[in-house]
Amino acid sequence: MEVIILKRGAESVIILDEWEGFQVVVKRRNPRSYRHPELDKRLRKERMRREARLLRQARASGVPTPHVLDVRDSDLVLEWLPFPTLKEVLGEHRDWACRELGRLVARLHLARIVHGDLTTSNMLTDGKRIYLLDFGLARVSESAEDRGVDLHLIEEALKSAHPGMEDCFREVLEGYREEFPEPGPVLEKLEEIRLRGRYVER
Ligand SMILES: Nc1ncnc2c1ncn2[C@@H]1O[C@H](COP(=O)(O)OP(=O)(O)O)[C@@H](O)[C@H]1O
Ligand SMILES: [Mg+2]
Repeated sequence: MEVIILKRGAESVIILDEWEGFQVVVKRRNPRSYRHPELDKRLRKERMRREARLLRQARASGVPTPHVLDVRDSDLVLEWLPFPTLKEVLGEHRDWACRELGRLVARLHLARIVHGDLTTSNMLTDGKRIYLLDFGLARVSESAEDRGVDLHLIEEALKSAHPGMEDCFREVLEGYREEFPEPGPVLEKLEEIRLRGRYVER
């Protein structure tokens, strides 16, 4: 089978490949030439392992993510989800997707995971569910500050990639409140982070 490069990013390349008879996606972390090759190899491997672990934990907590099929060196072999990114189709799904996204992030936070890169390019949708991708910056945390930062990332991503969809973030927060038992401290942090942002802009 022909190997097709789906995406090429600064951090990694996404390849469409075949693995044990399945069509899969291979996420390969790019080498960093300024690092010692052995160190670089080890760091890439560690990062991929961590990403795999967090993808699996998220899925086990009820957050749709691609199945992790294999981890080999600096490659992650993932179930291929042949769907558009939420960035491409949010407009068509705004009636349900914004609230659903809020619920998913709440569920992720309840599982003690913060994502760290919640842009709509890191989400896919088949029109029924939203799948979260790219746990490359994710980590284990229970802090209201980290959770607030995650929500603020969504707000900023919506502002910059989806102008005219300001209502969407309000619904994200409604979904979050629905699913997160005591959201008060996280929402207060979000407010604090917003104010900080405004102060810095001036
Ligand atoms: N399992 C997958 N199925 C389908 N497309 C994927 C999958 N994983 C990644 N992609 C596509 O590749 C892009 C980059 O993947 P991502 O994990 O976000 O890598 P990066 O860390 O380089 O941003 C995503 O925006 C998505 O379009
Ligand atoms: Mg990404």
